Amino acid sequence: MLDKIYTAIGSPNIAFVKYWGTRNEKINLPFNSSLSMTLDKGVISTKTSIVFSKKFDKDKIIVDGNELNLEEPKNKGRFDIIEEARKKANIDAKALVVSHNNFPKGSGLASSASAGATLAFLLNKALELNMNERELSIMARKFSGSACRGIYGGIVLWHRGMSDDGTDSYSEQVLKKEEWSDLIDIIVLISEQEKKVSSKEGHVHTATTSELFRIRPEVAERHVERALDYLKNKDFHNLAEIIMRDSNSMHAVMLDSYPPIFYLNETSKEIIYRINQINEENKENIAAYTFDAGPNANIITLKKYKDEIIEKIRDIQGIKDIIVVEMDQSGPILSNDHLINDY
Ligand code: DP6
Repeated sequence: MLDKIYTAIGSPNIAFVKYWGTRNEKINLPFNSSLSMTLDKGVISTKTSIVFSKKFDKDKIIVDGNELNLEEPKNKGRFDIIEEARKKANIDAKALVVSHNNFPKGSGLASSASAGATLAFLLNKALELNMNERELSIMARKFSGSACRGIYGGIVLWHRGMSDDGTDSYSEQVLKKEEWSDLIDIIVLISEQEKKVSSKEGHVHTATTSELFRIRPEVAERHVERALDYLKNKDFHNLAEIIMRDSNSMHAVMLDSYPPIFYLNETSKEIIYRINQINEENKENIAAYTFDAGPNANIITLKKYKDEIIEKIRDIQGIKDIIVVEMDQSGPILSNDHLINDY
C-alpha cells in the first residue's frame, strides 16, 4: 500500500441533460439530476499516478507539469478527497499525484470530470478501501460535480438527491455501451480561450441570481425521465430533441443570471442553425448539438450520419478541429504505465 505506485486512466463525459447550479458548493450538490455519455478513453483521457509515502511532508499534485496550489478554491476538492481517503484508511502518509490530460488543447471538455473520477478510483485501489461504485461516485462528486458520472462507462444517471449530507446524490449506469454502441459524439473545437467564468462560480451565480432558474430543476427532471425512455427504446429523433432543448435550457438560465454569463459565440450559434437545417432537410432529427461551459460544440449522432454531418458543418467559420469519439464501455481502469518513476 505505502510506497507503491498505482496508475489509472479515465475519460470525460458529455451531458445529455445538464448539471448547472449547486445547492451546496462545498460538496457539489446539484438542484437537478443529470444524464451523460462516458467518452472513449482511447481518444481522450486523463492518466494519473499516485504514491503514498511517509517520506513526504505534504500532499503534492502535479497536473500537466504544473504543481497545484492547495489555497486556490478550484483545487480544494482534489486535496479534500485525498484527505477523506487517508482518514478512511487510517494512515497519515502524504501523497504524490502526477496527472496528465491528453485532451486536445482547449477542447472545452471537462478535464475535472475525468480527473476527479480517475483520482477517486485510484485512491480506492491505492489505499485498499474496498469502496463500491456508488461510494466512489460520491467521492468523485466532491472533487467536481460532473466527475460523479465518470466512475461508469456507457450512459450514466446522476441522481440529484435531497439530503444535506449528499449521501443520496450519487450516480449509476443506466445503459451499457453494447446496448447502443452507434451513439457517438462529434466534438467541434472552436476556441482555445480560457472561460471567463469558471463552472464553480457559475453554478452558484446562476442558482442565486437567475429568476428562470426557479423552474430549471423541474424542467431538467422531466428531460431526464424522457431521455431515459428514448434511450431504452433507441428513439434517436426524440432523444436528440431533449438533448438540444436541455442545452438551450441551461444556456438560457446562464444568460438569465445577473450579471449574465455567456458561453456561446457566433460559431456556436452557426452550428445550432446548421444542425437545425440538417434535421429539417432529413425530416427527422439525425443530430443533436449540446454545449457545456464554453463555445465548443458536441454533436451527438449515430455512426451512420457521421460523414453527412461533418460534410455539412466543416465550412463554418471559426471551427479549429473536429474529433469523433465513441462511447466508452467502462469508467477508469488501472494501467502499468506509470507517470511516477522516482520520488
Ligand atoms: C456545464 O462539473 O465542471 O459541463 O462541480 O464546480 O467542478 P464543478 O463543475 P463542473 O460543471 C460543469 C457542468 C457542465 C454540464 C454537465 O456536465 O452536466
